[in-house]
Amino acid sequence: MKVVLGVAGGIAAYKACSLLRLLSEAGHDVTVVPTASALHFVGEATWAALSGKPVHTDVWSDITEVPHVRIGQEADLVVVAPATADLLARAATGQADDLLTNVLLTARCPVVMAPAMHTEMYEHPATQANIATLSERGVHVVPPASGRLTGRDTGPGRLPEPEQLFEVCVRELARASGGAAGARAATPRDDLAGRRVVVTAGGTREPLDPVRYLGNRSSGKQGYALAAVAARRGAQVVLVSAAALEAPAGVRVVPVETALQMEVAVRAEAAEADVVVMAAAVADFRPASYAGHKIKKTHEPGADGSADESAPVVPLVRNPDILAGLVDARGGAASPVVVGFAAETGDESASVLEHGRAKLARKGCDVLVVNEVGADVTFGKDDNTVHVLRRGSDAVLDVGPATKTLVAEAVWDVVADLL
Ligand code: C5P
Repeated sequence: MKVVLGVAGGIAAYKACSLLRLLSEAGHDVTVVPTASALHFVGEATWAALSGKPVHTDVWSDITEVPHVRIGQEADLVVVAPATADLLARAATGQADDLLTNVLLTARCPVVMAPAMHTEMYEHPATQANIATLSERGVHVVPPASGRLTGRDTGPGRLPEPEQLFEVCVRELARASGGAAGARAATPRDDLAGRRVVVTAGGTREPLDPVRYLGNRSSGKQGYALAAVAARRGAQVVLVSAAALEAPAGVRVVPVETALQMEVAVRAEAAEADVVVMAAAVADFRPASYAGHKIKKTHEPGADGSADESAPVVPLVRNPDILAGLVDARGGAASPVVVGFAAETGDESASVLEHGRAKLARKGCDVLVVNEVGADVTFGKDDNTVHVLRRGSDAVLDVGPATKTLVAEAVWDVVADLL
């Protein structure tokens, strides 16, 4: 397939070299079109050597071959990585002042853009408006990852890893080829294409005072794996996260801390969703009140000079059950599909699975993923063992021990079947 790799002038241009290699090694014919600024970061010789082709940035070279029209017209995919704030602005306003913007105007194939820049530039309303415009026009904008930027900065704006961008390109090429059997067989599934999904992840933290909170041992890894796999399988994914892990490529993260914040975010996002997966460990209770100052260990001495050595009592109140609220809110409707998780430890009254079945009936969700937990299993680990239960069915799908990614694949198989 003919792939155009557009490279704009950002430090992440060096990562585009790896993307170029991945595309070339997969047998694609890659033409690199850097902007003039991109050549400050990675020189022409590198692109030419890696692609095996001459590299141009302006429209005045090889003019008899009309490159400003031909390259875009003939492409099966254009991927711009990194896409800087300037490139996004020029693309959104249809400018044609260099070869890359000409290519973008003449291309009729799928276009993938991976914005990468400093957080402030990414979050600026101008950049966000340009991204929205491009998305509305059908450009597949891969949200940036969060993490270390140039210098000491951290935050959203990092170019996702080349392997992740490569997967997006492969999926777009498969889609563009209209499902040709050969192309599909060699590519990941995109059975969630066009679906909007919300995933929650992590353990909520319920603050007690400015330095303390009630929390739990959930790492968020299973929720992040569910979000990453859904995005890879074509879904538009929102991850409402109470964990501080690196955002998976192609996933929009809504950070939250408490159960109440998670409830607000999930309600807002679920309104448009086809599926909500509640993988978060939501605290059932929170402190009834929040102390504005750190609660002191020892109270000040009283009039008689003796310090109060008693421990404070912390009254708790119930948090809303977000999952039950979703089931209630949809009433008799089939959408969104609601998936719950149940972390269980068996006890003398019932096994893990029996507790799971009872919970599925009680919660009224469509799918319940039951996992056995304990101090040294599941939490924070990369592996998981689960039993997937479906409402109205006696069948149990046992998965694992397997990586959380494979568990996520199995859960999405069940959900895709329901959709
Ligand atoms: O009843 P239990 O807390 O075990 O149920 C777990 C499931 O319910 C998970 O999917 C969890 O995300 C969800 N949950 C919730 N709101 C709560 C507690 C749990 O949505 N307050």
